[in-house]
Amino acid sequence: MAKKNVSVFFCQECGNETSKWSGQCPACGAWNSLVEEIVDKSKAKARAKVADVAPTKLIDVAASNEHRISTNIEEFDRVLGGGIVPGSMVLVGGDPGIGKSTLLLQTCRLLCQSGVNVMYVSGEESLQQIKIRADRIGQFNDKLDLFCETNLDTIKAVVEREKPTVLIIDSIQTMYNEAVGSAPGSVTQVRESTSVLMEIAKVQGIAVFIVGHVTKEGTVAGPRVLEHMVDTVLYFEGDRHASYRILRGVKNRFGSTNEIGVFEMRDTGLAEVKNPSAVMLDGRPENAEGSIVTCAMEGTRPILVEIQSLVSKTAFEIPRRMATGCDYNRVNLLVAVLERMRDAKANKACGVFLGRSDIYVNIAGGMRINEPAIDLAIAMAIYSSEKDIPIDAGTIVFGEIGLSGEVRSVSMAEQRVREAEKLGFKKAIVPYSNLASLKNLSGIEVVGVANVKEAVDAIS
Ligand code: TYD
Ligand code: MG
Repeated sequence: MAKKNVSVFFCQECGNETSKWSGQCPACGAWNSLVEEIVDKSKAKARAKVADVAPTKLIDVAASNEHRISTNIEEFDRVLGGGIVPGSMVLVGGDPGIGKSTLLLQTCRLLCQSGVNVMYVSGEESLQQIKIRADRIGQFNDKLDLFCETNLDTIKAVVEREKPTVLIIDSIQTMYNEAVGSAPGSVTQVRESTSVLMEIAKVQGIAVFIVGHVTKEGTVAGPRVLEHMVDTVLYFEGDRHASYRILRGVKNRFGSTNEIGVFEMRDTGLAEVKNPSAVMLDGRPENAEGSIVTCAMEGTRPILVEIQSLVSKTAFEIPRRMATGCDYNRVNLLVAVLERMRDAKANKACGVFLGRSDIYVNIAGGMRINEPAIDLAIAMAIYSSEKDIPIDAGTIVFGEIGLSGEVRSVSMAEQRVREAEKLGFKKAIVPYSNLASLKNLSGIEVVGVANVKEAVDAIS
């Protein structure tokens, strides 16, 4: 007879399942991450009957008029792809204390004001604690039900009775399902709890938001499996000590994933930031060496950011290189390109020697940008700091740099230049190959550069 309960080992980093313990996870290589859990195998055997099941033709599927509920927070709606989809499951991940509970409570307030029934289940805070937070945020009406509970069976029963339109679970790590033997927060528990919530969402058409804490490695604590199960994964990020917060979509079955929402933490909760470019450029030094403005795209949204660089004589054997907000390896690559810079017209090398210098690159305002379109700005910031040449504060620069020093075209050049124009910039240095698409811009001077040397000439 098959054993009913078997013990299996789960990796807490990647969710991999093995039958034997080992010091290192055979799947992801993490050390000391396997934990033992008891799994009831008897349930797994229950199979659905297959006799009457048949696939449906795609053309026969009725395109339901997808109806979305607006959160009344424009920045949040944008990241969700236009509002909340009934029956969807959204995971909101982020560091502890970043403002996940605040954001969701504010969303509750606005949803309730537009007549939506919301239930907020907290496993982390008491009713009084939530009340204190709510008082800072503003007035609430009677559409919001609070429930402090961690037992999922109870939650499920209450949800079935109350039938809210939107359900918020704060946080998935505190929930437990009695059918699973292990402790709350463990991989199996988080996974099983999510599947119970998933059932609630799909069967009853309730939109469920679940809060998930993030480990120091930056993934939602416990399993990656959670990300596969839900429809939408949003990360709430930002420096806990700075006031700006960015809500970023990393997975979305109902919209684009590249969108971001920008918020500011105030003493009355989170406020939307409608014009992030102006915020990111706030307090920028005028005409300073090593400081230049570029335009990055976050989804469909152009955002101007200041790139700063500091080049100084090194006191070490091996010079230090540091990149904050951008890719470290990309910075190294750009340093190498600057060192090997060539003047194509005179056909001679004109590189800058940086081998004895420490180089620091920083994106001001706490943004993280992985787009190659900021290459040219990083290179120009380093050049400007090294040569002590201040860059005119009314200039923006963007373009991808190739290994031979060529400046390559970027997408959505027009939106980028228009955003700069809107914020009063007078000159844009852009890839030469993008010039054709920028002919009908009038309020701003557009200069096309084909390689790094031409860009250097254009800023000096
Ligand atoms: P919280 O939403 O509790 O974070 P999480 O749920 O992600 O752990 O955010 C708490 C932080 O936000 C806390 O440090 C206090 C701060 N805060 C404000 O600055 N203003 C406010 O109005 C509120 C409600 C919180
Ligand atoms: Mg919280």
